[in-house]
Amino acid sequence: LKKIGVMTSGGDAPGMNAAVRAVVRACSYYEITPCAIYSGYQGLIDGKIEEMGPRSVANILSQGGTVLKSARCMEFRTEEGRRKAYEQFMAAGLGALIVIGGDGSFTGARLFQKEFGIPVVGIPGTIDNDIFGTDFTIGYDTALNTVVDAVDKIRDTASSHDRLFFIEVMGRDAGFIALNSGIATGVEQILIPEINKPVEQLIDRIRQSGRAGKGSSMIMVAEGDKSGSNIYQLADKVQEQLPEYDIKVTVLGHIQRGGRPSCSDRVLASRLGVAAVKSLKDGISGVMVGVRKGEVALTPLEEAIKQHNEIDPLLLEVAEITSI
Ligand code: F6P
Repeated sequence: LKKIGVMTSGGDAPGMNAAVRAVVRACSYYEITPCAIYSGYQGLIDGKIEEMGPRSVANILSQGGTVLKSARCMEFRTEEGRRKAYEQFMAAGLGALIVIGGDGSFTGARLFQKEFGIPVVGIPGTIDNDIFGTDFTIGYDTALNTVVDAVDKIRDTASSHDRLFFIEVMGRDAGFIALNSGIATGVEQILIPEINKPVEQLIDRIRQSGRAGKGSSMIMVAEGDKSGSNIYQLADKVQEQLPEYDIKVTVLGHIQRGGRPSCSDRVLASRLGVAAVKSLKDGISGVMVGVRKGEVALTPLEEAIKQHNEIDPLLLEVAEITSI
């Protein structure tokens, strides 16, 4: 194995740079030439490939975003697109590919290996923490801290005005950000896509909170929650039933994807970057590197894509108990 290509793909996440750095340096350490592939699969199709060395990743460890740039590439979903990518891959003399991204990116990686026999390894990088085979994804911890910081600020103003806030956090299909940041900020209710909570029940709970003497309340809503078609409509429905409440909506949005990665994310990214290179060097591919119970663990890409992490019912209970 002489050359390994590395790319970041899909939604960016804080700590992706730390993972790129670890991959590049581990390659150099094992005397393999690391190559950057820019803008995800699109860059591979367009041949945006460049050799790197240990100094090309200097000082990126602490930077948010991804210096390799990222994209969600439609063309790679087609066989023709993947063939173009394969031609560029071979022309650059690459022998293996490391993809840092989420399950959409892993689906592409798996097909690439299956169709062309290219050894691939995935590194889970997404703020959503929704990848099976790892307890944590790169970027999740930083995003949680960003949300906690923002929601603490909203609590200050909510309590000054005795208001009811609906706060939307990211998580298209998963409620991990909402549940964990919701517990950490003491919100009154948490709505996540994994659990269907009827609006009537939500309204009852808000009334109960009022009777229990709460002046302000915050409802944390994961982007993928299905209680209303969107958070504004949900807030409107609640307002109709509770006209006496002063309701506001805040959508945190892409602020959650940026910022300097936390210590945890930097360490996780460094561990996984090194593990990915070691795995390829040892002839193991078609897997995702992750951490399970504190140890580096390999999961077949197929499983990482098909299976889903469950919401911990004990955390739901903690949220319920601590918010009375
Ligand atoms: O998958 C990460 C994520 O941040 C989701 O939580 C969110 O739904 C999506 O990406 C947003 O993607 P985009 O930046 O392409 O709008």
